[in-house]
Amino acid sequence: MSKLLILLTFASAFMVLSASAGNVVCYFTSWTIYRPDNGKFTAADVDPNLCTHIYYGFVGLREDGGVQVLDDWELTGLEEMAHLLSLKDQNPNLKIVLSMGGWNEGSAKYSTVAADPARRATMVQSVLEFIDKYSMDGFDLDWEYPCQRGGHDEDKANFVTLLGELKSALNAKGLILTAAVSGGIASCKLSYDIPGVSANLDMINVMAYDFHGAFESWVGHYAPLYPSHLDETDEQKTLNVAAGIQYWLDSGADPSKINLGLGTYGRTFTLANASNPDLYAPTYGGGEAGPYTRQMGVIGYNEVCAYHSDWTRVWDDEQKVPHKISGTQWFGYDDEESLRYKVEFANSKNLAGVMIWSLDTDDFRGLCGGGPYPLLNTINQYLN
Ligand SMILES: *[C@@H]1O[C@H](CO)[C@@H](O)[C@H](O)[C@H]1NC(C)=O
Repeated sequence: MSKLLILLTFASAFMVLSASAGNVVCYFTSWTIYRPDNGKFTAADVDPNLCTHIYYGFVGLREDGGVQVLDDWELTGLEEMAHLLSLKDQNPNLKIVLSMGGWNEGSAKYSTVAADPARRATMVQSVLEFIDKYSMDGFDLDWEYPCQRGGHDEDKANFVTLLGELKSALNAKGLILTAAVSGGIASCKLSYDIPGVSANLDMINVMAYDFHGAFESWVGHYAPLYPSHLDETDEQKTLNVAAGIQYWLDSGADPSKINLGLGTYGRTFTLANASNPDLYAPTYGGGEAGPYTRQMGVIGYNEVCAYHSDWTRVWDDEQKVPHKISGTQWFGYDDEESLRYKVEFANSKNLAGVMIWSLDTDDFRGLCGGGPYPLLNTINQYLN
């Protein structure tokens, strides 16, 4: 009898231990296979031992509720799926998850489908068939955002209903349901019934980034951990990682379901006046495009470290994030130092783990001298 008790105690201690191994949710985005030179990122570049979950992004949604393969490049990208699945040979615990939505998908179709029981049923069926076809382990919904961008007020309740129907169907087959949700408090107030969302998801990936960027006309870091003394209004003081996560917790989200969203990229500006690089200084739009990401206003960490190593790095000790300056160029981003602070913050709040957007902009080739995947390695090193 006592031997059995000891065995049981040992077994439950072991279960607690394995459950506390943090989630490291990594986005693989299909379009990165078209980047030039050392920016090209394919499934063969994924390290299967640095992530617990790999998300394939993105598929879209048809107005009738069916899964939509977004484009020809997406079809090519789906050929990568076989390679992603083969990563399980190297890490049998790895989960591969299908991700639907993203910013470019908008909100209107999701609003239409979520409002209609028949379309919701089509969506659930279509998602299950797609996941079954590619032998994936779960589904992730990135509806950006309910009640916004062409959505309707009813979306807040319909989102929870949709999640509930997806979760029942997925969980019945041993599959998980997750969602990417906003980390901006104003956006959350518009979009979410947080207790309802939390109850109907297996993991909540909070996108704790894009608080500032070239969509504004002044300097701001895209993902500060904490506020700056230069933040003045109540809203400015909440546009940071800590405030966004605290809002989810205070509103009734289950911390053991929350993964803190981290970026391996940055957002950039062209200063209006090179002599004034402070937060809230006026800007003339985004900074120069990088050679791989090729978009004004954003930059990958792999581009910062390879092409701007000689720029002045400034550490903001209030916000716990770095930026780089050269002439009129101001690049806010995350590096090993800031990610360590963010992971330690996630640990301190007893969160389930972290989500990383995205694999392709870490220095995955190790061209900057810190070995391959310096950011992902830092995250794994400090995550409880
Ligand atoms: C540029 O910024 C510096 C420092 O704040 C200031 O002294 C200077 O007057 C500014 N120049 C212009 C043209 O606004």
